[in-house]
Amino acid sequence: MNLVFLGPPGAGKGTQATQQAEERGLLYIATGDELRKAIAAGTPLGLEAKAYTTTGRLVPDGVIIGLVRELLGQPGAEKGVVFDGFPRTVGQAEALGRLLAERGEALGAVLYFDVSADAVVQRLSGRRVCRQCGATFHVASLPSKRGALCDRCGGELYQRDDDRPETIANRLRVYQEQTASLLDYYREQGLLVRVAADRTIPEVRDAVNAAIASAAGARGQGGTGSEQRRA
Ligand code: AP5
Repeated sequence: MNLVFLGPPGAGKGTQATQQAEERGLLYIATGDELRKAIAAGTPLGLEAKAYTTTGRLVPDGVIIGLVRELLGQPGAEKGVVFDGFPRTVGQAEALGRLLAERGEALGAVLYFDVSADAVVQRLSGRRVCRQCGATFHVASLPSKRGALCDRCGGELYQRDDDRPETIANRLRVYQEQTASLLDYYREQGLLVRVAADRTIPEVRDAVNAAIASAAGARGQGGTGSEQRRA
């Protein structure tokens, strides 16, 4: 099953998507993570992306679609993919439909993380990420047991450049202007499933599992499931 995790910055998509991918044996594709890796490695992609990501603007569609096409060539993609942070524009969503169709596949569901603006600001401003393994923590809701070090690998925890207050505001604006229209796009296709994400991490995990089960059930019954899954 191919799944998209959609929602504003800091909604908790990555926290849940990594876990779902691991538990279900799906490939995890997060365009933001790939861009940060490219920036850290100083590759041509990273050099191009840096000016966009540090100010919270979207990297151009052509660059992102090329990146996703390449990532879909990885082993494991045939089992299904969890897309985190992609697509973010209607152009990217149309491209994803084409990329999957070329493989004889389609999207199973789009999980929309519905969360308040206050929660987003609180989550992003307290987020800390491991420089070594990429694990994500939060100073209040998910602190590392080792303080400023990652409790999985011992790496140093840092605050993402784009998690500073002025950039957070811009990312939220960009989400409203360029990404929120995807809710209607996927709603019309009967793929959108709302996840109430203003809750604790375990509660959101339960809601995600229920949403995926509902989408899989509707697909198994051969219908679009639009009544059951309307978001
Ligand atoms: P990207 O890395 O994709 O960032 P994002 O979409 O803004 O999402 P985040 O990673 O900030 O948040 P999240 O929802 O994954 O939350 P998380 O689980 O970490 O993109 C970064 C940049 O790259 C973009 O601005 C753009 O420039 C570029 N880019 C990327 N993809 C692109 C694309 N497709 N097209 C164009 N440009 C692209 O959780 C946040 C924090 O909250 C964590 O600390 C976590 O521990 C905590 N938390 C999680 N869930 C809960 C909960 N339920 N309760 C309390 N705390 C929680």
